Amino acid sequence: MENLHNCRTLVPMFSLLALLLHLSSFHSLSLAYDLPDKNFINCGSDAAINLTSRTFIADGSFSSQKSKAVKASNQLPDNISTLYQTARIFSQQSYYKFEISENGTYLVRLHFLAFSSSVNLSTALFDVLAFPNVSNSGFKLLSNFTAKNSSNSPLIKEFFLGIDPGTFKIYFVPQASSFAFVNAIEVFLAPASFSPENYNSSLPSVLHTIYRVNVGGQEVTPDIDRIWRNWEQDDSYLSDPNSAKEIPYYPNRPSYYNGEHSDPVTHFIAANDFIAPDSVYRTAKEMNITPSRPFNSFNITWSFNARRNARHLVRVHFCDIIGQPGNIVFYLYSNGNFSKKVGEYESFFSTESATPFYYDFV
Ligand SMILES: *[C@@H]1O[C@H](CO)[C@@H](O)[C@H](O)[C@H]1NC(C)=O
Ligand SMILES: *[C@@H]1O[C@H](CO)[C@@H](O)[C@H](O)[C@H]1NC(C)=O
Ligand SMILES: *[C@@H]1O[C@H](CO)[C@@H](O)[C@H](O)[C@H]1NC(C)=O
Ligand SMILES: *[C@@H]1O[C@H](CO)[C@@H](O)[C@H](O)[C@H]1NC(C)=O
Ligand SMILES: *[C@@H]1O[C@H](CO)[C@@H](O)[C@H](O)[C@H]1NC(C)=O
Ligand SMILES: *[C@@H]1O[C@H](CO)[C@@H](O)[C@H](O)[C@H]1NC(C)=O
Ligand SMILES: *[C@@H]1O[C@H](CO)[C@@H](O)[C@H](O)[C@H]1NC(C)=O
Ligand SMILES: *[C@@H]1O[C@H](CO)[C@@H](O)[C@H](O)[C@H]1NC(C)=O
Ligand SMILES: *[C@@H]1O[C@H](CO)[C@@H](O)[C@H](O)[C@H]1NC(C)=O
Ligand SMILES: *[C@@H]1O[C@H](CO)[C@@H](O)[C@H](O)[C@H]1NC(C)=O
Repeated sequence: MENLHNCRTLVPMFSLLALLLHLSSFHSLSLAYDLPDKNFINCGSDAAINLTSRTFIADGSFSSQKSKAVKASNQLPDNISTLYQTARIFSQQSYYKFEISENGTYLVRLHFLAFSSSVNLSTALFDVLAFPNVSNSGFKLLSNFTAKNSSNSPLIKEFFLGIDPGTFKIYFVPQASSFAFVNAIEVFLAPASFSPENYNSSLPSVLHTIYRVNVGGQEVTPDIDRIWRNWEQDDSYLSDPNSAKEIPYYPNRPSYYNGEHSDPVTHFIAANDFIAPDSVYRTAKEMNITPSRPFNSFNITWSFNARRNARHLVRVHFCDIIGQPGNIVFYLYSNGNFSKKVGEYESFFSTESATPFYYDFV
């Protein structure tokens, strides 16, 4: 255990859909990707539960003296799934194992709700480690973790990691004199082309989702997203709420580019509805230009807290739901040392308007 790579292997990430105004090969999806149907675990439970087209199977047969099943002593509020009604607690290091048959990037989600029960789950302190790959020593996904702020609303930790075929293990390791717990686990293959294109050796092989934000419109909930992600509303990240205004909800389905396509000049990549759901691309914000606030006098800025000395992958999503392609040209900046011109020569624009695309940078 001592030789585990440390937290530096975790790279936060957020996704941001932005469409700012005036600032001056994919294979057939249905063939390439079947929605996953296993490795959803309802921890500490005797019964399977169906939740938005996933079946979380019971881990009741988990017969380890080191672990114990616990159940919420009160009924959970209506807006919290019964998935969170049970948990498994570990007083010693223990693991779940998954048989992986296909090489690739996997999503791993860990669900926590510190419900009230005979055990005070808010006092748990633990590490979570993943061993995706026989040829390396594993990753620390969570370090000295506590779920104490999750008594009213589930806390979901999401990771992307490359997993080799074979047995994949997730360890729960309590801190001295404490214990670990988990309510549910998901492990499934990410859609093809989901990994960042620039995902090369300069990036670690584990990504930890930090922010996923839908600009404009509502929060997008897991029942709407094809791979059960949550997209927060962007308002609380806007530095100046008056700088941006909402674009009306786009009434049509976005014109997804037919096939796989990465623009050779700009490196923008055509999106599909696994990259982000329709409802993310059908909403946007634009610059709030007024007589006292001309187009060239301000930027729209979103601010995110981020760890120092960690690399962050940023995926920015665009879909021009306003006008004719090529009419809107602007710059995307990050932290004063990155700039990217958007909206001019993208080759998607030769097809139709409202074509979703995205860009990744580190
Ligand atoms: C979950 O859904 C599957 C497929 O629709 C069904 O066969 C199964 O009985 C359901 N399980 C539960 C616990 O509802
Ligand atoms: C999985 O990917 C690794 C690294 O790319 C490769 O070495 C290995 O042969 C692959 N295994 C299978 C079964 O495809
Ligand atoms: C559970 O533990 C938390 C964190 O130590 C504490 O704040 C809380 O009061 C405890 N709850 C109960 C019911 O003991
Ligand atoms: C873990 O966190 C707790 C408080 O949340 C702290 O008291 C303890 O020192 C930490 N342990 C380690 C090994 O960092
Ligand atoms: C829990 O919430 C409190 C108050 O919002 C915050 O100060 C604290 O940092 C949070 N703790 C964790 C572990 O997230
Ligand atoms: C459920 O509703 C309560 C009260 O309205 C709210 O505080 C909480 O965040 C909600 N939880 C979820 C998961 O939506
Ligand atoms: C497994 O680990 C080796 C060595 O760290 C690495 O070269 C390989 O790409 C990894 N495979 C996957 C699927 O991440
Ligand atoms: C791969 O990583 C190197 C740094 O090691 C970086 O300069 C290069 O741009 C990356 N490749 C791609 C395709 O992004
Ligand atoms: C917008 O932000 C960029 C990058 O920080 C800066 O160079 C530029 O001057 C800003 N533009 C305006 C009009 O404030
Ligand atoms: C980008 O700018 C920030 C703040 O100005 C600086 O700390 C960081 O080192 C810069 N990064 C690169 C890659 O130049």
